[in-house]
Amino acid sequence: MSPLRSVGARLSLALLLVVAAALGIVYVALVPLVERNLVDAKVDQLVQSAEIFAARVPENDEQWQIFVENAAASVNARVLIVDVPVAEGPVVLPFADSQEVPAGQQTLVQDAVAVRALETLEPQGVRVDEGDDAYAEAAVAFGEGTLVLVLRAPLGDTLENVQLVRRRLLVAGVFALVFSLAVGYGAAYLFARRLRRLERAADRIASGRFDEPIVDAGRDEVGQLAGAFDRMRQRLAGLERARREFIANASHELRTPLFSLGGFLELLDGEELDEPTRREFVATAREQVQRLTKLATDLLDLSRLDAGRVRLDRARLDLGAVARTICEEFEAVARSRGHRIETDVDGSPEGVGDEQRTIQIGRILLENALVHTPPGTRVRICAAQENGRAVLTVEDAGPGIPSGQEEQVFERFYRVDGAVASGSGLGLAIARELAELMGGTIELESKPGSTTFRLALPSAA
Ligand SMILES: Nc1ncnc2c1ncn2[C@@H]1O[C@H](COP(=O)(O)OP(=O)(O)O)[C@@H](O)[C@H]1O
Ligand SMILES: [Mg+2]
Repeated sequence: MSPLRSVGARLSLALLLVVAAALGIVYVALVPLVERNLVDAKVDQLVQSAEIFAARVPENDEQWQIFVENAAASVNARVLIVDVPVAEGPVVLPFADSQEVPAGQQTLVQDAVAVRALETLEPQGVRVDEGDDAYAEAAVAFGEGTLVLVLRAPLGDTLENVQLVRRRLLVAGVFALVFSLAVGYGAAYLFARRLRRLERAADRIASGRFDEPIVDAGRDEVGQLAGAFDRMRQRLAGLERARREFIANASHELRTPLFSLGGFLELLDGEELDEPTRREFVATAREQVQRLTKLATDLLDLSRLDAGRVRLDRARLDLGAVARTICEEFEAVARSRGHRIETDVDGSPEGVGDEQRTIQIGRILLENALVHTPPGTRVRICAAQENGRAVLTVEDAGPGIPSGQEEQVFERFYRVDGAVASGSGLGLAIARELAELMGGTIELESKPGSTTFRLALPSAA
């Protein structure tokens, strides 16, 4: 990455621009404003003095020269009394002047302020620029005729102050720019370092290493991002663990029946067996093949569920009919094990979902109730409408599931210790995932003597 495209360079550049813009605005807009205010204040002050003096001009014009000299000394300005002969235009002649002017040059400037003061009969004040010099001028007309008192003070001091402010501002500006550049670069450097750490962590995860936690002490967005990264890492680690476990479990489940099948084939092949033993061996081998077939079917179902490739109908289904169908299917098996199955359908509970998948769930639950209970145990399958849901329950009076394992039995490959090794522990996992796909739930309540699985589906009503 080129250094100019890094966050650091961009951030410090942005900071620099902001500071420069702020200083520029102060320099361009504020300094002239200050200057104008200072000059206006000076002019106003001069106008006030001019008014005061205009009221005190002596009647006798022979005293005027002394008067203007005294006045000039007290306000620190040049004071003049001028006559503005209107007829001759704006040429102003001084009558009395506090400043000595070489003979012959006594004609003052064409003093527009004096003319205006006379024309308007209002005190006037203005800033006058003459070459490099600047003055504040105030003029007040007095007496009956065309006489005007003019005060003129240099603005040099005031403007010098403004100049000083301007210079200071420039120096401070340079400091501020350097400082902001340093701060911006420093902050951006720290920021970029954290981002690079996250980048390395992401690469680590991408290469399959989930062991190292991602920590960032910051509470800002980067910190939150690091938190999200770490959650992702944990989740991926969990998935990876589950995947390994799944493969290990699945291969183990495949190996056991295959191993025993291999053994039986060996026996059948090798020895001279009497007919009953041979039959028994073949029957057992067939059982193992069934077990393998069921395992393969279950694994296929799970992989379809994982891939999101299970297509489900969303149609009205009669849970009563489902209950009766399953019951009939298992009747023979149940009788052979000495179980009694009762069906109890309350009204006509109608749900919404996939009929075949609902029957599959029912089979899983009923088979468990027959397999994981001793012979002779009563099993009841009920369908009813409850709290706006269509509910199918499978109840048995068996020994139940030890408390604390009610959730675990729904995990893949989970079997309660010591239970009959009938299946691979996939049934309930499949049942729950199917139920959830249909917008339903499966819950379990179990105590010795009463175990109830409840499948609740959205009601059609
Ligand atoms: N009705 C039941 N009574 C007692 N235990 C049960 C019952 N249903 C399920 N279980 C326990 O839950 C475990 C998981 O069930 P399941 O996922 O169907 O696997 P499997 O039946 O293949 O062992 C079973 O191994 C069994 O220990
Ligand atoms: Mg089962």
